[in-house]
Order: sequence, then structure tokens, then C-alpha cells
Amino acid sequence: MSSKSARKEILALFHQRGDDFVSGAQISRALGVSRTAIWKQIEALRKLGYDIEAVTSRGYRLRATPDTLLPGAIQAGLQTTLIGRDIVYLESTDSTNQHAYTLGESGAVEGTTVIADFQSGGKGRLGRRWCSPAGVNFYGSILVRPVIPSYCAPRLTFVSAVAVAEAIQASSGLPARVKWPNDVLIGGRKVAGLLNEMSAETERIHFVVFGIGVNLNMDAEQFPPDLRYPATSLRIELGRSVSRVAFARELLQQLDHWYRLYLQDGIAPVLARWQELFDLMDQQVEIETPQGPLRGVVAGLDEDGALLLRLPSGARERILAGDVRPLAGKE
Ligand code: BTN
Repeated sequence: MSSKSARKEILALFHQRGDDFVSGAQISRALGVSRTAIWKQIEALRKLGYDIEAVTSRGYRLRATPDTLLPGAIQAGLQTTLIGRDIVYLESTDSTNQHAYTLGESGAVEGTTVIADFQSGGKGRLGRRWCSPAGVNFYGSILVRPVIPSYCAPRLTFVSAVAVAEAIQASSGLPARVKWPNDVLIGGRKVAGLLNEMSAETERIHFVVFGIGVNLNMDAEQFPPDLRYPATSLRIELGRSVSRVAFARELLQQLDHWYRLYLQDGIAPVLARWQELFDLMDQQVEIETPQGPLRGVVAGLDEDGALLLRLPSGARERILAGDVRPLAGKE
């Protein structure tokens, strides 16, 4: 067994035990290695920032986990079948999407997840930048290989939007909402952004990268002054920091659930949940489309995820891309 997998197993044992001690003998039996080897790995974990108490005749107990998005910490207790089986952690990178895309091209398995502490060139939608300071947020890219035709790929945006909103709600209790096509908001302020990128031929998808950025512990003064849309973080909303590791684990679990549901039952259950999380149904909106602004009332989504807008003339317009802004008044 490699040192890395030994440390992963030890963390999983600690996770199972909660606040209890695990004896050196128990760890050694579970891993099939000597107690001296266990002690070496405990020391290595301490160097990584894990606070591990050792008490003679009782064993070891995990007192605190560093809030660094290390694979072993996220994977301890992770309940997924596809997503996050392989996690690549980078202290710094240009863009996790870029890194995951390169891994996809070299054959990385479905579910491979790239997480970074800092991005020097975080990519946003429409060629914008995603503000990615170190030590505070979640920046991750998850590689999937769905066997679906390329024209179905835009539907996957709804899979990740629902997963992110559910993960925020589950880990903070805050009422996260989705904004068409792919933002996640709290109280009308953007807390997360999604950028899916794919490699495909006309007929077939090679892979899709779910790019997800969530503002977790960022302070108001860390946001750039020229943001197009008001932004927030979980820390600003809650008035306290959240555990990045616990959030990352919850997010991977939600993504695993919604992605597998999509593969099994199609997009309908995902869109149904998305519409429950969408505040602008039946609202008057203005949409900035590539062809210019359009006003109307939101009438729903079609199965491709296009927004259906009822125009003042009564005609229905199918919108494939654009920025939606609520106007006062509900129908
Ligand atoms: C948006 O413009 O709202 C989308 C932002 C997506 C940001 C995430 S952070 C992780 C991943 N890597 C990137 O370079 N971008 C996405």
C-alpha cells in the first residue's frame, strides 16, 4: 500500500469513529501494515495540518482537519459512486477547467475532479474572468463522459446548477436560488458561477467539464470593484466561515446524485427541481440577448433548457442565451 493510500485509509477510519479514539492496533489490522508504519503516516498527516491527538493505551483521535481541499480530507466519508473517485489538488493553477480538459484529452476516468486553492486565470462565461483568491473559496472542475448526443450537452448546465444550489442549502441552510441559465444566487446576489466546457464531435461527446466556482469565505473587500452583478459569499451571508472541505464533499455528493439521476431518468426530474429553485417564473423580465434586449414574461423552460418568454404580442420566444434581469411585476 502506498503512503498516500495509507493516509487516506487512516483518515477514513477517523471519520468513521467521529470523536472516539482508534487504537494503533486497530489501524494496523485494518490497513495490514506495522504500527511503526502507522506512526510514520500519522506524523505525515500532522505535517499536512491535521491535529491528531495520541494517548498511550487509547490510540489516536482526529481533533481538527485543516481546511485545505486535500483529496484525503474530502474523500474521508465521501459517499459517491462516480464523482470524486480521483481528486487532483493544485495549490495554484491558471484554471481548473483548463487542467481538467487536458486530463480529459489524455483519457482520465469519468468523475475525475480537479480542485485548486488559487486560480491565476479563472475563466468566467463569455470570456470574463472569475475572481479566484487563495484560501477562501471553492474552484473545481469535474470531468464526465456521458454517452449522449452533443446537442444534449447544454442540459448538463441544469445538472450542475441544481447540485450547487442543493449543496449550498444543505451545508449552510441558506435559500440558494438558480438564475437562468447558470448562476446561483442568495438574496439576488451571485454566490456561484458555472462554466461547462466540452470536447465533442457532431455526433458524440468525448467529455464534459463541469466548472464550478463558489464564493465560500470571501470578504466583501475581496471582490473586484467592477463586477457586472452584485455578489456575495456564504461567509458574508452567515456572518461566520464555513468548512471548505465539508462543502466540497457535499457538492460532490449532490453532483453525483443529480448527474446519475440525469443518466438514468433523463433531464425531466432535473428541470423540475431547477424550476422549483428558480424565482423568476411568471415574472416580467428583460433579457439581454445577442440580438438585443427582449421584454416579456417568463413562461418556463423547454426540454433543451431554453427559456420560454411570452412577448407583449402574445407570441412565445425561445431564448437560448442571454442575461436575464427581473423587471417589477408578476403576471
Ligand atoms: C461565470 O461566469 O459565472 C462562470 C464562472 C465559473 C468559474 C469556475 S471556477 C472553477 C472553474 N475553473 C475556471 O476557470 N472557471 C470555473
